Amino acid sequence: MEQTLAIIKPDGVSRGLIGEVILRIERNKLKIKAMKLIQMSKTQAQGFYAVHRERPFFQSLTDFMCSGPVVVMVLEGENAIKRWRDMMGATNYKDAAEGTIRRDFATDIEKNVVHGSDAPETAAFETGYFFNALERV
Ligand code: CMP
Repeated sequence: MEQTLAIIKPDGVSRGLIGEVILRIERNKLKIKAMKLIQMSKTQAQGFYAVHRERPFFQSLTDFMCSGPVVVMVLEGENAIKRWRDMMGATNYKDAAEGTIRRDFATDIEKNVVHGSDAPETAAFETGYFFNALERV
């Protein structure tokens, strides 16, 4: 069993897409092991995306990620990392496959509705960033 971090980003929450995203997660038989609605500070967003700190979009991305509430979740299942990334679609919604969340709902490469960990090490860091052991069922 593998765990991964999923985030419904501020655009997804403000556009009323929490239910839609959770429906897709449950339909795809990924288990929700932890979930909460939070609003990150700028410092927390910078810490979360530290791996991107040299990228030209870092400032804008971290401003966006603390611009409103987000839903953070730990998902579990076999191949959970890849399965959740397949459900999300490519970072750029224009490249995302039909039927993916980003293809269906994203409006912008930055405002792309959802986030998912990209590897086991990232998943360990990212799930631990938001949840301690007592917060996971
Ligand atoms: P995410 O999967 O959360 O990982 C990093 C985020 O940076 C990505 O989704 C996008 O929201 C954002 N991002 C990636 N590439 C770009 C880009 N070229 N311009 C602006 N934002 C980007």
